[in-house]
Amino acid sequence: MTPLLSIEHVSKAYDTTQALDDVSIEIQPNEFFALLGPSGCGKTTLLRSIAGFEDPDSGAISILGDDGTSMSLLSLPPNKRPVNLMFQSYALFPHMNVRKNIAYGLEREGLSRSEVDARVAEVLETVSLVDKAKARPAQLSGGQRQRVALARAIVKRPRLLLLDEPLSALDRKVRVEMQLELKRLQHEVGITFVVVTHDQEEAMSMADRIAVMHDGRVQQIADPVTLYSRPANVFVADFIGSGTLLPGEVSGDTFSALERRLPCNNASGVHGPAVLMLRPESVRVTPDDSDACLRGAVIETHFYGGSSITAIRVDGVEQPVVARSAGAPRYSMGEEVGLLWDADEAVVLAVGGSSETPP
Ligand SMILES: Nc1ncnc2c1ncn2[C@@H]1O[C@H](COP(=O)(O)OP(=O)(O)OP(=O)(O)O)[C@@H](O)[C@H]1O
Ligand SMILES: [Mg+2]
Repeated sequence: MTPLLSIEHVSKAYDTTQALDDVSIEIQPNEFFALLGPSGCGKTTLLRSIAGFEDPDSGAISILGDDGTSMSLLSLPPNKRPVNLMFQSYALFPHMNVRKNIAYGLEREGLSRSEVDARVAEVLETVSLVDKAKARPAQLSGGQRQRVALARAIVKRPRLLLLDEPLSALDRKVRVEMQLELKRLQHEVGITFVVVTHDQEEAMSMADRIAVMHDGRVQQIADPVTLYSRPANVFVADFIGSGTLLPGEVSGDTFSALERRLPCNNASGVHGPAVLMLRPESVRVTPDDSDACLRGAVIETHFYGGSSITAIRVDGVEQPVVARSAGAPRYSMGEEVGLLWDADEAVVLAVGGSSETPP
């Protein structure tokens, strides 16, 4: 499939900060794509470069035109790009009602009165704010304000909508509702979304695919399940989800740590110093440690209603190994237990970079 947006080898530096370092990403038509990474990793800089508010130092950014051919965005001013950016700290016009806030951009484009009315009415319906059309921003809840901002962004029917931390101002409950809303909206309006977030759960729950960034570089681009179960490197493993990262040495299918050979999945053929990733739900705790992979003592248990977490201190391992299981905790503090896991679920990661087969 021809991508809707192609970002090729884009770099951008501010003085001594390399905000974007050789970033390449392809985004497909109608995709819900997320950019995920810690503060300062370059997410906003990348969105601003796509929207035209920032000039990359090098690289190319192109979009699929109506005629099916690809056109460069870099030579176009922001208002000529078929792209709309909802800023990280968006502001509604406080003196205008909801309807006017949404209509403003269309009126500036010089659309006819009837066209503006029809499009605003349609989008008010989409974001479920018909009954708030005459309200001022100050009379709305945080979630409603957020929906006005979204309505304002989609009413212009951009081919690509860029949303920079669209839900960051909301409290947790509204935020989870808006995540579902955003996904429904994207499906309904058929616009390609690129959403920036530093919240991994938010990215995982909404996006078709995610690019994980760190220090201006793309670490991995994949769907949520792949990122979680097959992270490309230690940074991604640590940033996405929870679990234990156990340092050791690998050679072929043999992972050695703590003077033992531990079951592992070394599908990417890492060789030498490496890290073994154990997700909590992959670790089984057993009272009988005769065939356990590791042994240790229970130091913490937490019950979360449907499931529980058990933390086990293993001699020679800095962090406790964490296991998640269904139901109530079955072990008590101080109890000696064995730990088991399936080789396939314990992924070997290269130290200090992406996994590579040795020459
Ligand atoms: N105009 C600027 N001048 C100088 N440095 C900048 C400028 N804009 C961004 N930077 C730097 O570039 C890096 C990337 O910034 P960016 O705003 O893209 O990060 P971000 O991933 O969006 O972070 P956050 O999650 O905090 O919004 C940071 O180190 C930042 O300090
Ligand atoms: Mg930002």
